[in-house]
Amino acid sequence: MIKSILNYIVCPVCLGDLELDEERRANGEVIKGRLVCQKCEHIYTIQGGIPILTPPGVKPYDWLSKELTWALKQVNPRKAVQMIAEGKIKPKKVSCDEPVLTQEELEEGEYKDSENFLRDRFGSIKGAREHFRRRLNENRKFFDMIIRMGMLDKSDVILDVGTGYGYMLQYLAEHLKSTRIFSIDISYTNLKAVRGRFRIFGIERDIHLVAADALHSPFRNDQFDAVESWAGYGNIVGFSGLFSEAYRILRNQGWFVTDVVEGLESVDRDLRILIKTVGEEFFIRNFRRLGLIPRKDEIVEAMKGCGFRKISSKKVNSASIIIWGQKTV
Ligand SMILES: C[S@@+](CC[C@H](N)C(=O)[O-])C[C@H]1O[C@@H](n2cnc3c(N)ncnc32)[C@H](O)[C@@H]1O
Ligand SMILES: [Zn+2]
Repeated sequence: MIKSILNYIVCPVCLGDLELDEERRANGEVIKGRLVCQKCEHIYTIQGGIPILTPPGVKPYDWLSKELTWALKQVNPRKAVQMIAEGKIKPKKVSCDEPVLTQEELEEGEYKDSENFLRDRFGSIKGAREHFRRRLNENRKFFDMIIRMGMLDKSDVILDVGTGYGYMLQYLAEHLKSTRIFSIDISYTNLKAVRGRFRIFGIERDIHLVAADALHSPFRNDQFDAVESWAGYGNIVGFSGLFSEAYRILRNQGWFVTDVVEGLESVDRDLRILIKTVGEEFFIRNFRRLGLIPRKDEIVEAMKGCGFRKISSKKVNSASIIIWGQKTV
């Protein structure tokens, strides 16, 4: 965590200022420490260089994919999907006197931040570089369009929401050389993977990675020129809740841009197998109960309801649509 981030982040609950209490610093970054809310006094932690600003009780992990993976080992696939959709399986909570991450999760984070992770996953560092280069090239048209529609290339300060393994973020880092880039994801370990890869690949940019819930984002009002979320519709539960947060943290005239799929052919391989097993109609019906995979018209309506204007959309390929709109007060 770079100290200058304190000008931008606040308590996700009361939006109070945060005071830094450093424990360990290396190469100009705060690696471990605490961030204390000056208003409600809640204490947030910094672990492995990442500020963890999920609201009290909310665990910084990608609960949907973790709990679904767990459920698939316990019950048949249809039952697993249904139990998640009906709220019979919920995200794990943390109590106030408990650390937000277990020792095991911290260790998983350190592993994902290391060269070993890239070697295990892609065969070698060179293999990892080639994988990301290929994927970024495949998505070039898509990413360029998001950049254009969200005016990201004309922005000074932008936010990438639901960073995941950071395909979009890497593209932004490589193409927007002088933009100040922030990134949030609810998964601490995903952000650690991004942090490690960027360091190993030599992407020498000050990118602020924050573990946070997009629906309770830890940022001051009116500070981003653009907020973008690529491929978040299948993971961010209650996806439309993100739009009012984006509106709040955008400056007047700032742009929000996101995408959605019409079919499910472009989802990742593991999910495709699951969809084939449970049936597409069943899968969509249940995921939609969690506010996932919304339709384009639902997104447009929700954005309108938040106050966005100049809402437009464009089909990028047979499956995906980009949607964008401007905050106008
Ligand atoms: C599939 S990734 C999106 C792809 C990513 N934007 C990229 O460029 O590679 C979706 C991410 O959303 C994150 N996520 C899920 N719920 C979230 C929430 N409430 N707030 C922030 N991130 C969330 C997940 O942890 C996951 O990493
Ligand atoms: Zn507070």
